[in-house]
Amino acid sequence: MQVYLDNSATSWPKPTSVIEAMANYLNNFGGSPGRSGHKFSLLAAREIFEIREIIAELFNLADSENVIFTSNATHAINIALKGFLKKGSHVIISSMEHNSVYRPIWFLKEQGIIDFTVVGCDNNGKFNLDELKNSFRPNTKLVVSIHGSNVFGTITQLKEIGFICKEKGVAFMVDAAQTAGFIPIDMQKANISILAFTGHKKLFGPSGIGGLCIDGNIDIATSIHGGTGSKSELDAHPDFYPDKLEAGTPNTVGIVGLKAGILYILNKGIDNLRKQQTQLTEYFINQLNEIDEVILYRPDTNGERLSLVSLNIKNMISSDLAYKLDKNYNIMVRAGLHCTPQAHKTMGTFPLGTVRFSIGCFNTEEEIKYTIESLKKIVLI
Ligand SMILES: Cc1ncc(COP(=O)(O)O)c(C=O)c1O
Repeated sequence: MQVYLDNSATSWPKPTSVIEAMANYLNNFGGSPGRSGHKFSLLAAREIFEIREIIAELFNLADSENVIFTSNATHAINIALKGFLKKGSHVIISSMEHNSVYRPIWFLKEQGIIDFTVVGCDNNGKFNLDELKNSFRPNTKLVVSIHGSNVFGTITQLKEIGFICKEKGVAFMVDAAQTAGFIPIDMQKANISILAFTGHKKLFGPSGIGGLCIDGNIDIATSIHGGTGSKSELDAHPDFYPDKLEAGTPNTVGIVGLKAGILYILNKGIDNLRKQQTQLTEYFINQLNEIDEVILYRPDTNGERLSLVSLNIKNMISSDLAYKLDKNYNIMVRAGLHCTPQAHKTMGTFPLGTVRFSIGCFNTEEEIKYTIESLKKIVLI
């Protein structure tokens, strides 16, 4: 048996419809969108227009022109942070951030451009809201928060944080890399100013596509200048979304794949898919609880969490366990810090890290049973 349990890194397999849509574009109308006036170019542009509309509806963003395509969440977060923050800005982040947020923030501070404060989260990944309220300064321009922890599966309380940001008149940016497509996100209800997503995880697209959804009042400066297919007569890069932040030929094949991935989710129902993956995760956790050697790092709420489990085996380093699972049992998981040292520091698993088993909607109970049996054999050796 072969078991893929690394869906938080990237989801696999992809729905057949995603692969078919990408092949259809490449085989039948592979033109460059928004450039030429011929059929293929227009068909490609139509695909891109349609998916902007679908994404705006998915996250309840008022204007689909404010959906920006990027290569991934990291690219999106960098564009937003570097284009929005000005010299002298103060930023608040959580203690659960992925390096895709933490490193650019740290870099901007090192360059003397910004200052930042880290607000602690509890074992359930919840912001300490009093600490958050006390961290605002007169020059605070942005609060940034991960939505779902890629290491522990905890979910941040977006609405409460968004409410506080609104009261303070400060922009709120969310890293939805792990939750877009898994947990419904309403930008307007949660007062989210900037949402960053990646296409290749729970949205079922291919790698190389991600994006930003930007509230119309937020001004993110252009950092990459070039051709947009619009206002070509001008020296200056266009100053309207999406062209403002999208220079050069887009990843049309990736965008077409992402569209098919999102349509797959909408067709199955986001809640149905989450329920199915949550049940399988609960089943896995119950079985794991019966293995004495397993140390489970698990949020203690009964509320929402991602379909992943982080654990260690007593007296075994995480990379050894992942290696044994892959080599001897054909089970693919991820070990270590998962690009998120901050979360491990918060939860007390730094620097050794954990082994993460992340379940996707194509995993089966049979695969989980096989994984449990394999773990039992490993702890006996
Ligand atoms: C929480 C979180 N944020 C951001 C990212 C970055 O996503 P990407 O590698 O697609 O840019 C990841 C990827 O694992 C993640 O888990």
